[in-house]
Amino acid sequence: AEDGVLARLQRVGIVPVLVADDVSGAGDLADALVSGGLPVAEVTLRTAAGLDTIRRMAARGDMLVGAGTVLTADQVDQVVDAGASFVVSPGFSLEVVERCHRHGVSVVPGVATATEVQAAVAAGLSHVKFFPAGKLGGRPMIETFAEPFAGVRFMPSGGVSAANVADYLASPAIFAAGGSWMASKSLIAEKRFDDIARLSREASALVRGSAG
Ligand code: 3PG
Repeated sequence: AEDGVLARLQRVGIVPVLVADDVSGAGDLADALVSGGLPVAEVTLRTAAGLDTIRRMAARGDMLVGAGTVLTADQVDQVVDAGASFVVSPGFSLEVVERCHRHGVSVVPGVATATEVQAAVAAGLSHVKFFPAGKLGGRPMIETFAEPFAGVRFMPSGGVSAANVADYLASPAIFAAGGSWMASKSLIAEKRFDDIARLSREASALVRGSAG
């Protein structure tokens, strides 16, 4: 089941990172992403509405819903209970990774250094988030990491945009890319769901056009 989730992330290619202030928009937001060809979401726990947004979106059954900004093992329990199929962290926490393994849920921890990639490998992982990708050197930095860590695949996030996502996805070291540009906090707060659907459509077209 865990590998199947990562394969689905790779197939969709782009993972919308969502910050939702209000659970009432979750249905329309999910509709916009699904109709735009991005049936996946990393719903962050940065807002109080995050957990209920996961619950609402996971209950639909037509999209892959994960939790982001998961910092503690207790939060792993909470998001799994809410129906999350995968867990993403901004950094590497062995406690978070081990709790995910105990639940049988896929986990993609963040890395920014070789030490953290090495810790993820030691924990049995082959898929990590590279965060914040733009500020850390982008695709060239990922490809440098991929030399010593040949079995590791990266999901850049942070500064990924419509302008650079195809270049990221063309790298064999990259299995998916995360970002908020197609469903930013302000687009969500202003309920601009038509714009979110259009930006998602444009983003998913870039995945189909890329080598990845
Ligand atoms: C993340 O947690 O992955 C980032 O906040 C997404 O970064 P972006 O807003 O620059 O796309």
